[in-house]
Amino acid sequence: MRLTVIGTGYLGATHAACMAELGHEVVGVDVDAGKVAALRAGRVPFHEPGLADMVARHTAGGRLRFTTSYEEAGAFGQVHFVCVGTPQRKDGDAADLTCVEAAFADIARHAREGALLVGKSTVPVGTAARLAAAHGSEVAWNPEFLREGFAVEDTLRPDRLVFGVRTRRAERLLRRVHAPVLDAGTPLVVTDFATAELVKTAANSFLATKISFINAMAEVCEAAGGDVRRLAEALGYDDRIGHTFLRAGVGFGGGCLPKDIRAFAHRAAELGVDLGFLRAVDAINMRRRDRVITLARELCGGTVLGARVAVLGAAFKPDSDDVRDSPALNVAARLGLDGADVTVYDPEAMDNARKAFPLLGYALSLEEALRGADLVLHLTEWPQFREVDPGWARELVYRPRIVDGRGVLDADRWTAAGWRFRALGRPV
Ligand code: UGA
Repeated sequence: MRLTVIGTGYLGATHAACMAELGHEVVGVDVDAGKVAALRAGRVPFHEPGLADMVARHTAGGRLRFTTSYEEAGAFGQVHFVCVGTPQRKDGDAADLTCVEAAFADIARHAREGALLVGKSTVPVGTAARLAAAHGSEVAWNPEFLREGFAVEDTLRPDRLVFGVRTRRAERLLRRVHAPVLDAGTPLVVTDFATAELVKTAANSFLATKISFINAMAEVCEAAGGDVRRLAEALGYDDRIGHTFLRAGVGFGGGCLPKDIRAFAHRAAELGVDLGFLRAVDAINMRRRDRVITLARELCGGTVLGARVAVLGAAFKPDSDDVRDSPALNVAARLGLDGADVTVYDPEAMDNARKAFPLLGYALSLEEALRGADLVLHLTEWPQFREVDPGWARELVYRPRIVDGRGVLDADRWTAAGWRFRALGRPV
């Protein structure tokens, strides 16, 4: 089929490449000429394992191309996927729909008769119906559940597909687009617009709630002397609970979970439904960052003023160069404001971190970050940080003091090598 994908960020670039991989002819559209030029050259402007190869392969093979022209996209596509961002609004918790509205308006104006406009962006419930009424085109909603770092895998082999449709024709077109994925046995839920929109916000809210639940248990463990890692292990053996998303630590960040729970609570309140528990989920999440700062102060004898602090990690999670709402950088910046001399190191996210927080110090290597440090904070669990030899690190730092903000370092090994070791949710 001939598809277009509007917006070539994480979601759009991945969706475009994966649709080409499924055998479709795909045109990716973006208003950012720089992004389009990079993608045309087979370059993906963010870190996503496997994606650059796929883009390069399909652009070279001619099945995937990129343009800034809605006119070209409209003339080409039978189905148009809108994959633009819905960030948090500057003036509150609601989602900013400017890009979604502009993308629908632009493609509706240029689309051929009978083309299907499919929204994939995460939007407040009610958006699809409003867009359908505004543009008179046939609309469907097909939310996306991909995780950064696993974007290709999650798109080609998703846990489920969700089609929010109003007509059999829209369902048929979406089934044709996803035929290889459906043939592989992927569960499909066909439903109305509102339910399809809600599946996405409900899923992210549930995941955020799971993380904040275990982080609240970490707070109780800290107060009572328990170990949240063993608690999570024991809880997870109950199939109804499961082990995933029960890793306690400095909390969730990124471009999705934090803004999605806020936008969802806001939208629900507009509809007269009080999702106050999501505000608690958000508050617990932010308290974990405060806790790392408290531990840092304690280890530095009451104040971090003048202390040389090495922050290991800048990305919001490993295998990503995304620093949006990164807990690591938030903690680093706040310690900087408290007068600490902060040096950040991350294997992938240095450029993005520098752009977002130009006033922090940055090291070109782990070794350089550790050298002369009074305190080390481990805040993004990259594999290479887990594998650090505490004896080697001990020789580099000035004072061997570390906070494990991700619950993955071996306290016994670090203390045996002479470190003062503190962690979240554990009696150390
Ligand atoms: C999340 C969802 O997992 C995807 O299903 C969804 O499609 C995506 O948002 C989206 O809305 O686009 P993502 O933001 O890539 O994906 O990252 P996750 O792997 O969900 O991690 C989110 C945050 O939670 C990270 O900061 C991670 O470190 C933290 N986390 C995760 C924990 O602190 N503990 C855990 O047990 C799991």
